[in-house]
Amino acid sequence: MAELQSKRIVLIIGGGIAAYKCLEVIRRLRERGCAVRCILTRAAQQFVTPLSVGALSNDAVLTDLFDLDAEREIGHIRLSRDADLIVVAPATADLMAKMAGGHADDLATAVLMATDKPVLIAPAMNPRMWAHPATQRNATTLRADGIQFIGPNAGEMAERGESGVGRMAEPAEIVARIAHHFGDEALHTTPGTLAGRHVLITAGPTHEPIDPVRYIANRSSGKQGFALAAAAAAMGANVTLVSGPVGLPDPAGVRVLRVETATEMLAAATAALPADIAIFAAAVADWRVSNAADEKIKKGAKAALPKLELVENPDILSAISHLPPGQRPALVIGFAAETEHVVEHARKKRKSKGCDWIVANDVSPATGVMGGNRNTVHIVTAGGVEDWPEMDKQKVADGLIARAAAHLEATTGSA
Ligand code: C5P
Repeated sequence: MAELQSKRIVLIIGGGIAAYKCLEVIRRLRERGCAVRCILTRAAQQFVTPLSVGALSNDAVLTDLFDLDAEREIGHIRLSRDADLIVVAPATADLMAKMAGGHADDLATAVLMATDKPVLIAPAMNPRMWAHPATQRNATTLRADGIQFIGPNAGEMAERGESGVGRMAEPAEIVARIAHHFGDEALHTTPGTLAGRHVLITAGPTHEPIDPVRYIANRSSGKQGFALAAAAAAMGANVTLVSGPVGLPDPAGVRVLRVETATEMLAAATAALPADIAIFAAAVADWRVSNAADEKIKKGAKAALPKLELVENPDILSAISHLPPGQRPALVIGFAAETEHVVEHARKKRKSKGCDWIVANDVSPATGVMGGNRNTVHIVTAGGVEDWPEMDKQKVADGLIARAAAHLEATTGSA
């Protein structure tokens, strides 16, 4: 995430139980080279101390509009203008209401009123408070004012027995969203949102058994699919990632289903429907062994060489693309790994598979794409071909998810 290097972030910490997660946000932002200046509301100081926030941010922590020393040295106007981005986390129902109403009676709200910089908020509150018409009205107002949102997520609340939508986004998601904000502007012209959307992604290779210890596989690392899942989660989607065997950890906030074979991948992907967007980044083995042995095949001087009979695997992308309307995801995206005539083959593949977009990439050995961190892709749609410059796989993922979110919003309305 080189895009975070030297960025100046003002983090406004609101008064909610999720405030403790901000310590992790500060730590991760600092690790990536951001300068983080923190403002604690009066209520936030009940949950985290200026001392711990200051130790992690390595900067003075600001707490009150009428702290005259701070006001003389920095001033809330300059504070708000010096930043590249203002992040509010946790954004409580009260803070959101004050923002929507234009209040400026403490340092946090004064900075938010005085700023001309982008603002990202991570709401966190009890599910009933989030669902309350007043909060929803305020959220609509804030979105219309251009405030960006991450979360809230669904899940267990800190209060015992409470669950629903209202959990603050995880620190990793918030940091990924901030990185996304500072990403390649050319790819992020229409940010959109995926809150309330379900995104299904396949990733990695499949392993097709020959016997209990041997299998047919390919060199896919799963990196691109995992990066897509992280990017979709960072935009607020519910994400199901169906992955073949890879050595990657679960991305934060993503439901990961680990499978071995193409048949299992198809079953898991189909069972995960309905989805709004489905992206098939897996390098599914084309064939499986129909006569796989139940016991390990012995090699012996006299034994005949084993003969493997191959049958074709189901085409998951094609199967889901050809589902009837209503069951088919609104946007189906396939990948095409080619070693020659990349775009020409991708165009044909888009038609034959019945998907909406194909992300085509050159995987000839000289490119180092397979297993590597960088990728050069071409997005083939019904409208034409976009050639994207070479970039790392996370940036490809961020760009593609942003593009998919904008497309979904334009074709089906907001979530
Ligand atoms: O292997 P092929 O070039 O046909 O892969 C193109 C796209 O189809 C990829 O998105 C891949 O994930 C998907 N695919 C699939 N099931 C298969 C083969 C490919 O979903 N059996």
